[in-house]
Amino acid sequence: MRRRGFLKALLTFFGTVSLASFAYPLVRFFAPPSSSAVNEKVVLAKQEIPIGGSKVIVFNDKPAIVINVPGKGLIALSKVCTHLGCLVEYDKDKNRLVCPCHAGTYDLQGNVISGPPPKSLPKIPLRVDGEQIIIG
Ligand code: FES
Repeated sequence: MRRRGFLKALLTFFGTVSLASFAYPLVRFFAPPSSSAVNEKVVLAKQEIPIGGSKVIVFNDKPAIVINVPGKGLIALSKVCTHLGCLVEYDKDKNRLVCPCHAGTYDLQGNVISGPPPKSLPKIPLRVDGEQIIIG
C-alpha cells in the first residue's frame, strides 16, 4: 500500500512537470509582447564610434547598427533586411550594408542599391547630446 501511494505521487509529480514544460512555451507564444520593450533608449559614448566606425546595438529587442559615416555623421539603422529578415553587415571598405542571404545591398543611409529588398532599412532616431549618442 505504501509503495503504491509513493508510485502514484511520483507519477503525479512527473506528469505535472511534463504538462508544465509543454504549457509554458505555448502560453509565452500566444501572450502579447511586453510593452516595456517599446520605445526604449540606448545611450552610447561618442568615442565608442570613431569616424568610419560602427557599433551593433539591440534596440526594441531587434538588432540595429549605429554608423559614423565619414562626412555625414552618425546614423542608426535597423540591421534586419527588408527582404526576408536576415541581418545585414556593414562593409566598411565599400561603404555599404550587405545582406548575406540574397546579396541585397544598401547605402549608408539605408537606401536599397541592389538586390531583392523591397524597401529601405528603417532609420532609428538619434541625437548627440554632449559626449553621448542617444538612440530612440
Ligand atoms: S533577406 Fe536580405 S536580401 Fe534576402
